[in-house]
Amino acid sequence: MEKALSGIRILDMTHVQAGPTSSQLLAWLGADVIKFEPPTGDITRGQLRDIPNADSLYFTMLNCNKRSITANMKNPAGKEVFVELLKKCDVVMENFGPGVLDRFGFTWDKVHEINPKIVMASIKGFGSSGPYAEFKAYENVAQAMGGSMSTTGFDDGPPLVTGAQIGDSGTGLHLAIGILAALQARVRTGKGQYVEVAMMDSVMNLCRVKFRDHQRLTRGNLPEYSIDTTGRHATPRSGNDSGGGQLGNAVKCKPGGPNDYIYVVVQEAVWENLARLMGGDALVQDARFSTIGERRKNQAVMWGMLNDYASNYDKREFMAILNGIDVPCGPIMSTEDLANDDHVHLRDMYVELDHPQRGTWYNVGMPIKLSDNHVPMERSPLLGEHTDQILQEVLGWDKSQIEAKRTAGAFTK
Ligand SMILES: CC(C)(COP(=O)(O)OP(=O)(O)OC[C@H]1O[C@@H](n2cnc3c(N)ncnc32)[C@H](O)[C@@H]1OP(=O)(O)O)[C@@H](O)C(=O)NCCC(=O)NCCS
Repeated sequence: MEKALSGIRILDMTHVQAGPTSSQLLAWLGADVIKFEPPTGDITRGQLRDIPNADSLYFTMLNCNKRSITANMKNPAGKEVFVELLKKCDVVMENFGPGVLDRFGFTWDKVHEINPKIVMASIKGFGSSGPYAEFKAYENVAQAMGGSMSTTGFDDGPPLVTGAQIGDSGTGLHLAIGILAALQARVRTGKGQYVEVAMMDSVMNLCRVKFRDHQRLTRGNLPEYSIDTTGRHATPRSGNDSGGGQLGNAVKCKPGGPNDYIYVVVQEAVWENLARLMGGDALVQDARFSTIGERRKNQAVMWGMLNDYASNYDKREFMAILNGIDVPCGPIMSTEDLANDDHVHLRDMYVELDHPQRGTWYNVGMPIKLSDNHVPMERSPLLGEHTDQILQEVLGWDKSQIEAKRTAGAFTK
């Protein structure tokens, strides 16, 4: 079956979330991903467990379509296994804390010397240079330091983290793009290169438009914000304001539960239809809303009217009404809504899988659809499930060579 990355083998030392989401995407694009784990396994195998002694959903959801080998990098025989695999792989990926790989003796220079064609890809909280380089990072640390938390929430409330894992999974996406570019460059140059992505940098990249507003603040009030931004020096939290050229906000529907809202964008082109729907010709003619500039000025009144109108409908009913007049909108979908949504299932975005330790479970699907990349989703590997297979198939070792390494402690603590 056709796979976009057929022939690319990845030595995947990544752990927790940021790295594994990246290598999982590359596996779904067809790469052979070898998860290289310490004998105790990726720490997430045991974190937030819902079934005793079974690999957690935290692990299973981020490590599909990979094979697992264990090797102890603190043992000379384990290091030899690593070096032999390095020679046979196209990419090596890691997201250890600062200095871990150097302490193992594998700087980029060393890795490049062992295999000049290999691409080495690293995630660090803050990169390898600058005053923050020595610090570890987790998702919310990156959200805090990359500009996301200070711009999320309401102006009169505390900074908030966003549910989307932009610090971890967002950084993983950036890393995957860097790896693909480095592999493409290698086609021309024959040489591998070092790809580094910092979580803080990735979050800043995803907050790019907040820096647009940061600079616009110097020219006065930002009229699209529902709060007065005059005199501010940093982009404020703007609740559910659209953040774009069109007005938008979350509108409450019946019966008034925590997710009974619909996000509505009052696009310039649809105002007349929307006004006619809510208030007939009188509202269409109302000078307070006749231009987008007027609607910005009077948006509190406009959103009040929309909320009153929406209170007659549930979010799906209101979605149907708004879609009928071409108003861009989206009901606020809970995880329960999404897990049961026909559209989501038809697009293979919530996929049923089996697992020897946990039975049936679900993973979020592969969001990048290629016409010639047929990779069925496969469950995550058990710890060390493919150690012997990988040594035989990738390194060509026979049983006695594997046993010798086993006896020397290569695969155990
Ligand atoms: C996520 C993070 C904070 C976790 O910190 P941590 O649990 O202390 O883990 P570290 O990566 O610093 O260290 C891993 C340890 O496992 C050991 N280890 C890893 N693979 C091993 C192997 N195959 N064999 C033996 N030991 C191994 C390392 O030697 C290290 O131990 P040491 O400190 O004694 O040298 C840290 O890895 C980090 O900052 N990573 C970069 C940013 C990142 O990706 N964060 C997002 C995670 S979702």
